[in-house]
Amino acid sequence: MKIAIVTGASSGIGASYVCQLAEKYSWLDEIWVIARNETALWTLKRQCIVPLRVFAMDITQTENLLRLEEELEKVKPYVKYFVNAAGCGINKKIKETDLMDCNRMLEVNCNALTLLTKIVLPYCGKRSRIVMLASASAFLPQPGFAVYAASKSYVLSFSRALRRELKKTGTTVTIVCPGPVDTPFLDTIGGKDSIPVIKRPFIMKTDKVVSVAIKDAAKGKELSIPGISMKCFFRICKIVPHKVLLKFT
Ligand SMILES: NC(=O)c1ccc[n+]([C@@H]2O[C@H](COP(=O)([O-])OP(=O)(O)OC[C@H]3O[C@@H](n4cnc5c(N)ncnc54)[C@H](OP(=O)(O)O)[C@@H]3O)[C@@H](O)[C@H]2O)c1
Repeated sequence: MKIAIVTGASSGIGASYVCQLAEKYSWLDEIWVIARNETALWTLKRQCIVPLRVFAMDITQTENLLRLEEELEKVKPYVKYFVNAAGCGINKKIKETDLMDCNRMLEVNCNALTLLTKIVLPYCGKRSRIVMLASASAFLPQPGFAVYAASKSYVLSFSRALRRELKKTGTTVTIVCPGPVDTPFLDTIGGKDSIPVIKRPFIMKTDKVVSVAIKDAAKGKELSIPGISMKCFFRICKIVPHKVLLKFT
């Protein structure tokens, strides 16, 4: 059985990924969709041409990860596509961030992503594509959004190392690093108004970010950075010392 697995499938980038994979890879036997919002996942199931297998679960709970592992062991699928899109962010200074919110960001963005990758990896093979949702905030420390940005730096570093480890297996890892994207995520960080005015014209459409990521992953690219502004930001962060850039953040 050939499948795709998408976390964070109930909304935003993950949901768009499911729809676009179903169109572009219509030969997939199933797409396994993971998120807590069961209603949203069932709604998605009705819209898709490829059958979806719904895993309505919190990925920070180990017993749920074990349930997924058991299902994989039972079905023994070939995972053509694995998208780690689940994520959350709170934009507050560290001192003002609630302890549980801090923990949630690390649990979802780092822990769950790592453990899920370990669980899914044995079912990937030649021509499999792993896609990790990092963020442009992985390129530079972000005062006021420190834990989130650091968690995305973790995703970037972990995924680069994984890509290297998988070099001879034919499985590629593509790290998606968008700037702001027009999804419900923006509401959780205070809405579009919380984005500095200068950055607002650069808010990208979800479907565009996903279509670029699908093309980049198909080519086996390491990084998928949608939009010219974030590409420039990436270059600047590589050239200019972070100490200097941090003076302007
Ligand atoms: N939007 C942006 O501006 C932006 C920019 C750069 C990077 N990103 C990254 O892109 C990824 C997708 O974000 P998005 O913009 O699509 O945000 P979103 O619309 O808020 O979607 C986040 C997804 O993560 C899932 N999720 C969160 N906590 C979970 C948990 N404990 N267990 C299972 N699923 C969980 C949510 O599902 P449930 O709530 O149903 O569980 C939802 O499907 C994230 O990793 C985010 O950091 C976003």
